[in-house]
Amino acid sequence: MPDSRPNRPVVLVTGASSGLGLATATLLAANGYRVYGTTRRGSAATARDRGAPTLLKLDVQDDASARRCVNEVLQTEGRLDILINNAGYFLGGALEETSIAEARDQFDTNFFGVVRMIQAVLPHMRSRRCGQILIVGSMAGLVSVPFAGFYAASKFALEGLAESLRHELRPLGIRVVLLEPGFFRSGMTEATRRTTRRISEYDSAREGALGYMARSQQNGVEPATLARAILKVLSNPRPRLRYRLGPDARLLPLLKSALPQSLFEWGTRRAMRLGND
Ligand SMILES: NC(=O)c1ccc[n+]([C@@H]2O[C@H](COP(=O)([O-])OP(=O)(O)OC[C@H]3O[C@@H](n4cnc5c(N)ncnc54)[C@H](OP(=O)(O)O)[C@@H]3O)[C@@H](O)[C@H]2O)c1
Repeated sequence: MPDSRPNRPVVLVTGASSGLGLATATLLAANGYRVYGTTRRGSAATARDRGAPTLLKLDVQDDASARRCVNEVLQTEGRLDILINNAGYFLGGALEETSIAEARDQFDTNFFGVVRMIQAVLPHMRSRRCGQILIVGSMAGLVSVPFAGFYAASKFALEGLAESLRHELRPLGIRVVLLEPGFFRSGMTEATRRTTRRISEYDSAREGALGYMARSQQNGVEPATLARAILKVLSNPRPRLRYRLGPDARLLPLLKSALPQSLFEWGTRRAMRLGND
């Protein structure tokens, strides 16, 4: 039965056509939130399943699209309480194989896409002196991964951004939270982009590392686990800045800081079959 309570919090989840975003949007809708998800394909992509969120068209790489999407929610609902920045993709390949255009594209979605959405919602949240902004970062923003340097760099950049933004928005009544998931089963493996250029000297190590990451995602945590964590964060009146989600996201950063660097690097080379040992 639809929830007819007034003042249900209004949430916008970017990248809600699959994986973590879809699970989050669906769980929040089932828990009384008024949820708008997004996809680059537009509302035609809205699933017909009951409980599936309404999907708005959004490409986070496009300034006008970001503003239009936020305005659509504001015009329909009169307010927006929560923004969940989830849209992103994974670019695999060695730094030398990556063109500047490919590297920029990775940042344009994973980093500037988040910036565009936050800039689009802030005038509204500032005027109401309330709001919550969640950013889906990654364990790769804490522990970098070989052959995904630009993906990791985009997530490291979000760490710095969120830490700073949290201070800027706190006096305005707007909360900022960073989620750091480890490996989760989602559409990300299929949506992975690979660099166009391939240099044969990297073949073995690159395929070892990217194969390890794809397998880890396929065997990863269910997206519903992240959705439940987000539901908990949203109901916490004093959320922390960072939440590490999944066993590997809790363990690997700990090992990185506790072990001697050489031992941690050796473990990474072994796990990812990078060779030279
Ligand atoms: N899965 C993991 O193991 C994992 C781990 C750590 C962090 N994360 C992060 O979690 C977030 C969600 O990823 P996922 O694993 O759920 O992958 P996914 O299943 O591939 O979902 C990615 C979503 O992002 C959207 N998207 C991609 N590019 C976009 C763009 N330019 N504009 C707007 N939307 C765009 C896609 O929507 P359309 O294609 O329909 O537009 C899709 O809904 C990402 O930020 C990812 O980096 C994932």
